[in-house]
This record gives sequence, structure tokens and C-alpha cells, in this order.
Amino acid sequence: MMEIKRIFVVGAGLMGSGLAQTVAQSGLEVVLNDVTEEAAQKGFSRIQSSLEGRVAKGKMSEEEKDAALSHISCAGTLEKAATCQLVIEAAYENIGVKQAVYKSLDEICGPHTIYASNTSSISITSLASAVKHPENFIGMHFFSPVPVMKLLEITKGLRTSDETLQAVKAVGEKMNKVIIVSKDMPGFIVNRMLDPMINEAIEILDQGIGSVEDIDNGMKYGCNHPMGPLELVDMIGIDVHYSVMQVIHSELGESKYRPSPLLRKMVQAGLTGKKAKAGFYLYDDEGKKVSVNPIFAG
Ligand SMILES: NC(=O)c1ccc[n+]([C@@H]2O[C@H](COP(=O)([O-])OP(=O)(O)OC[C@H]3O[C@@H](n4cnc5c(N)ncnc54)[C@H](O)[C@@H]3O)[C@@H](O)[C@H]2O)c1
Repeated sequence: MMEIKRIFVVGAGLMGSGLAQTVAQSGLEVVLNDVTEEAAQKGFSRIQSSLEGRVAKGKMSEEEKDAALSHISCAGTLEKAATCQLVIEAAYENIGVKQAVYKSLDEICGPHTIYASNTSSISITSLASAVKHPENFIGMHFFSPVPVMKLLEITKGLRTSDETLQAVKAVGEKMNKVIIVSKDMPGFIVNRMLDPMINEAIEILDQGIGSVEDIDNGMKYGCNHPMGPLELVDMIGIDVHYSVMQVIHSELGESKYRPSPLLRKMVQAGLTGKKAKAGFYLYDDEGKKVSVNPIFAG
């Protein structure tokens, strides 16, 4: 089995920078890439602040922070992927963007490079068709924020080899993650359960069965969820959740996966959650929850 020592991360956004931080904290080398060197540097700065926060809270020493940062380098092009055994892509959730990235990587990397995608909803088998060796292609679905959330959901495409699975499992263990393995089906394991539950919460609200706060309190205090489903979808992004529901519904066809009409209307109205400061709740400039959105009050 190939030992992975150096990882190339494509996309230095929310997930890519969290991923690079977690890789670096586990002592592996990481190259953080984005469309420009500056964009990659922005991701690096985000990691720096996150680690400084950990030091301030006494969760990490100054030396550990410096050691982690020393494992990270930034790149505005894909060339350095050739020096890495694993590429994890966390670019935009768009099949065209992702396939273009893999086609370019395939020109640069050798036949043994493992490619992983952090996609939440796109088929791993379809992404794997962009590369010459689909047996080296796999899904590595991390959860946000990556340094905090313990889960790694690995997805095997139709042609993913067992060697590829074992190699990425070993990396996941080094990153201290709890690993689950899914077949390549829409929503994999977690979103197939979570997203219909969130969708149902929105239906319950739309049908006037319960208020925003009662729905959230129901799951918080009745099921011990750390967050209610409506607060959670505000954080995930109501548009992001809508697109995952559309994928699950269109692929599996069953009416139980149909996106709630209220969900669609909220996306059309630009009420996409915390990032827009308005979803089921309203948020201030620091992202703190202020109140239930008056649209849903009373
Ligand atoms: N946000 C979440 O909670 C979450 C959770 C699990 C999985 N994901 C998945 O992770 C991926 C990234 O999501 P995100 O929330 O970090 O998005 P984001 O918008 O924060 O970051 C995406 C980054 O990719 C960069 N990028 C776009 N095209 C690129 C290219 N061709 N080459 C290099 N970089 C490129 C962008 O400049 C941006 O910095 C998506 O596939 C998403 O579905 C997100």
C-alpha cells in the first residue's frame, strides 16, 4: 500500500483551509492551492488565525502551532500536485469545475496519484470518469469545521480499488477521524439521513404545525441534537441544502425526497441563512443569532 506523506489540497475556501490545517496538525506535509497564489494565501491566513485561537484558548502550545504552520505551503497553480501522493479537491460544488480540475491534474500527476473529492452530492463514479485511472479515485467527505468535526465519510466509486480505499483510510486515521465507508449513492450515508430530516422540519414549519423555535427545541431537547435542524440549515446554507435535496430527489425519484416548496421560495428570496444574515433566524455582522426571522414569527 502506498504511504501518503504529502497531500495537495485544491481549493483554499472554508473546507480546503480546514482540511489543510487538519493535515498539517497530523504532521503530514500539505500544499494548499487555489486559483491564484493570493487566494491560497488567504486560506493560509485563515489557518494561522484558527491556530492562534487554539493557542489563546490553551488547546495548543506556541511550538505546536509553529510546527503545524511549517508543514503548509501555498500554490497558485497545480504543478506541485506531481510531488504529492494524494490530491484532495475541495473546489466549488460544480461538476464542470471539478472535472476540469481533474483533467488538468491528470496531465501533471503520475499513474499512482490518488485523487479524492470532498463533494457533498456529486457522484464519485462520474467524477472518476475524468481521469485515466478511475481505480485511484475516491470520495473523502469531511464535515465543517474540519479541525473540529470527527467524521470522515469515505465513498467508493464503482471502480475504486481496495488499495485506494486502504491508503485513504490510513490517512484519515492519522488525521484522527472516525471513518465510515459509503457506496456511491446520492447523499452517501450522512446527508441521505440528515437532509430529509431538515427538509421535513421545513415542511413542518410550512404547514404551521410548529414554530421555528419549537421545531429546533424539539430536536435539541428531545433527541439531544446540539443544534436544531432550522438553525443547522441556516449554518449550512439554505441554497446548499436545496441543491443537495434536488440531487437526492432527481436521482432516487421518490416523493419523500422532494425539496420543500418553502425551501425553494427561501432560495428564490435570497434568504440563504447565516451567510446572508437571514434565513429561519436573523444574524448580526458577527454571525450571532439575533432572533427568529419576523417572516416566521407568530
Ligand atoms: N461548506 C460545507 O459545510 C461543506 C461540507 C462538506 C463538503 N463540502 C464540499 O466542499 C467543497 C468546497 O466547499 P467550501 O464550502 O469550502 O466552498 P468555498 O466556496 O468556501 O471554497 C471553494 C474554494 O475553491 C476555490 N476554487 C474554485 N475553483 C477552483 C479551481 N479550479 N482550482 C483551485 N481552486 C478553486 C475557490 O476560489 C474557493 O476558494 C464543495 O464541493 C462542497 O460541496 C462543503
